[in-house]
Amino acid sequence: MKSLEILIKEHALILHALECLSAARDKLEKGKRPPEEFFQKAVEFFQTFADKFHHFKKEYLMFGLLSQKKDGAHDGEIGTLRFQHERCRTFIGEIEKSIKGYSAGDEIATTMLLENLASYTSLLKLHIYIEDRIFFKMVKKTLSENEDHALFVQCL
Ligand SMILES: [Fe+2]
Ligand SMILES: [Fe+2]
Repeated sequence: MKSLEILIKEHALILHALECLSAARDKLEKGKRPPEEFFQKAVEFFQTFADKFHHFKKEYLMFGLLSQKKDGAHDGEIGTLRFQHERCRTFIGEIEKSIKGYSAGDEIATTMLLENLASYTSLLKLHIYIEDRIFFKMVKKTLSENEDHALFVQCL
């Protein structure tokens, strides 16, 4: 399915960025201090590409169509994915808030940065795993070729 291929390719980009973020988290765990600019750029990427462009614009179209077509039969799974999107948005917002204090050497801000990085990287990896391995398989079985095409056009 063409629409799913786009989403899966975007997941690969997001997973790559998550690896960089996990590496920075590992450094923090060992008392090292990656530069503030790294975290600012990471927040910008995840808020714009992962959240607004990927999660919001594309997946929400797919969730809506699937829910409509299956008469709400998959609303539990969709609800979980939406909840995970919201939690990720909260964690990245908390990461953003802690950067200033972190760069000033504030240890409480550094603790917040570390705990939110751990939560964010862990949850977003799980979320992508569920979408790629479980959710998209269900979508593939449910949507027709025409519906896939309509989603694909909106995904471009
Ligand atoms: Fe998602
Ligand atoms: Fe996704």
